Parts: sequence; C-alpha cells; structure tokens
Amino acid sequence: MRVGVPKEIKNHEYRVGLTPGAVREYVAHGHEVLVETQAGAGITADDAAYEAAGAKILPSAEEVFAAAQMIVKVKEPQPNEWVQLRDDQILFTYLHLAPDPEQAKGLMASGVSAVAYETVTDRAGGLPLLAPMSEVAGRLSIEAAGAALMAYNGGRGVLLGGVPGVAPARVVVLGGGVVGTHAARMAIGLGAEVTIVDRSLPRLRELDELFQGRVRTRYSTMDVIEQEIGAADAVIGAVLIPGASAPKLVTRAMLGGMKRASVLVDVAIDQGGCFETSHATTHADPTYEVDGVIHYCVANMPGAVPLTSSHALNNATLPYGLALADKGIAACDDNPGLMSGLNVRAGKIVNEAVAQSLR
Ligand SMILES: NC(=O)c1ccc[n+]([C@@H]2O[C@H](COP(=O)([O-])OP(=O)(O)OC[C@H]3O[C@@H](n4cnc5c(N)ncnc54)[C@H](O)[C@@H]3O)[C@@H](O)[C@H]2O)c1
Repeated sequence: MRVGVPKEIKNHEYRVGLTPGAVREYVAHGHEVLVETQAGAGITADDAAYEAAGAKILPSAEEVFAAAQMIVKVKEPQPNEWVQLRDDQILFTYLHLAPDPEQAKGLMASGVSAVAYETVTDRAGGLPLLAPMSEVAGRLSIEAAGAALMAYNGGRGVLLGGVPGVAPARVVVLGGGVVGTHAARMAIGLGAEVTIVDRSLPRLRELDELFQGRVRTRYSTMDVIEQEIGAADAVIGAVLIPGASAPKLVTRAMLGGMKRASVLVDVAIDQGGCFETSHATTHADPTYEVDGVIHYCVANMPGAVPLTSSHALNNATLPYGLALADKGIAACDDNPGLMSGLNVRAGKIVNEAVAQSLR
C-alpha cells in the first residue's frame, strides 16, 4: 500500500504521524511511504532521516494526499485536508468526531474510511492509543507543577523534593487512572509527599500495592478533597468519567481553604476540567491566578514534548497501522479493537457513540 504522511498543520502541532523508525517498519512490510518534506521538523527528524528509513519525500501535502491510499496523521484533518480525502482512502489519526459535526460532514462527503485513534480498544476494553498521551500528560503535570511553584512564576517557592531538614512539597492527585499514576510516579521520584484520591476502591487497592506504601491513598469524598487540598502545595486534576464532562471536584469556595500561591494543574481540562475555576490555557500562556491559587490548564499538554509524544504515539499505533496497510480496511473485520476505532466507513458514520452524539 502507498502510505502518506503529511506535515501537521493544526496550530502549534509539532508531532508527526510516522517517525522514521515506524517508516522503516512499514517499508519492511513491503509498503511505500510518502512523506511531505519537513513533516518531522518538530521532532528533529529531517528529510534525510526519512529517506534513510526508506521513505520518498514529496514537496507538498497535496502530492501526498493525491498519491497515498492511506493517510497517517496525528490531529483531526483540517478543512483544507478534508477536501483532499477520497473514497478509496483510509485515514488513521485522532479524530474526536463526536463534538465536531463540521468535520464529520467533511469526512462523510469525501467517502473516506477513517479509523480514530481515540476509539480503538484493546482486549481489556482499554484505550491503547489514548494511554500514551495520558502517560505523557501525567508525567508532565509534575514538571508543570514544579515550574508553577517557582517564586519567579508567582508560586509558593517550594521545591517538590525539599532538602534534608526541610519538608518536601505535598502533592495531591485527584483520580488514580493513567494520568494520575504517572503523575504520582514522577512526584514520588522527585521526593514529594504524594496522596492519590480516587472513587474506585479496587483502583486504590491496586495503587497501594503498586507504590508499596510510598503514596497515601484516600477515597474520594468532598470532606477528603477539602482536607487534602488544604494541605497541598500542588493538586493534579486527573479524573475521568468516560463519555461525560469531568466532575467539578474543587469548587471556588474550596480555594479559600488552600495555601496561598499553591498550584492546581487541571489535566482533565480537555473534558471541561475538574476545578470549577478552570478554563483552558495554551503553552504560550499556561497559568492564571484565582483567589491566590495558580491554575495551569493546558488542554494539549503532550504538544509541549512532541519528540517524546510522537515516539510514544508511534509505539502504540504501529501494530494497528501495519494491519491496516497490510489488509486494507478489511483489517477491522478481523480485529474487534480496530473495528471499535472505525468511525467512518466509505463516508458513513459507523461508530454508534459518535453517530448518537451527532444526531
Ligand atoms: N490536558 C491534556 O493534555 C491531557 C492529555 C491526556 C489526558 N488528559 C485527560 O486526563 C484525564 C484523565 O485521563 P486518564 O487516562 O488518566 O483516565 P483514566 O480513566 O485512566 O483515570 C480516571 C480516574 O478518575 C477516577 N475518578 C472518576 N471520578 C472520580 C471522582 N469523583 N473522584 C476521584 N477519582 C475519580 C476514576 O476512578 C479513574 O481511576 C481525562 O480527562 C483525559 O482526557 C488530558
């Protein structure tokens, strides 16, 4: 199959659909890979690196779209990309179609078959192509909290790990899923005192086992959240209720009980945020202050580290992408996990949850 990789064009998107390492795997499977010039610039992979991996470099996105039978991207296609898709093509990328009827119409009109990373499932019912970005965001959340706590950024001036004789920072993680676990791992690694709050007792048992006494675990109630955030230097919001907006676990009134210049990092902001006072920010201007508490609410945290994020994403997408390249869209018929990823088949919305939200 001819597999095309255009350069991402969404504002501030530096990741790339295929890394040179992934290209080499596609080529080894007998596929031809066409890469737009400079597609890997955001991850310091130049055209020569792609050529060395066996790709052919094309001078424009138009040529990639025109020649390829499958397009591999990162972000949802933009309007000038929809119009280049065709009914004999497969699109493999993040789509997030449910809240985006315009894009859905664009894809339907093109007749393309589109597999969305975010709805591909694994045998355990997990979301294997979302997990790597949650891992990145979870780990990054502690770096973001550490930076926001610096005095020159308006923070409390607390070092996460403390030093001998001085207490470390207290970090509270709300939600002990993928983001929360990776946040806790980083915070513990830096020497902070960490508490994870979750509403799932089985999950708290797993975390207790996993961290071998190095985190405190607490069951999520309003009382517990109020107590924990009152003692915290940094709070990481990492809750998720699948298919719903994030619950507002921290109200504005609760900010009054927090330490001055402590930090809230709302990773769940892409689902509306779990602090009442959160609103989405960008990497260019990531924080703002409400009632003396610093808020960091960047909606696309992995975008800050495109090199790590592209490699993490490619590790997860590679087997699915290769199956699509090897067998075409029929690969979905053989693999229920990939079938859950199929959102549009020959211009028709076929994912029930997506179809419902567009009605
Ligand atoms: N901002 C970003 O760049 C970015 C990147 C990746 C993920 N995210 C977001 O981070 C959030 C977490 O993702 P995840 O992959 O860790 O999800 P996950 O499903 O693995 O974990 C969510 C956890 O929240 C817990 N939870 C639900 N309601 C709760 C409550 N009331 N109190 C305490 N815990 C509660 C669940 O039991 C679960 O353990 C999602 O909203 C996701 O979209 C954001």
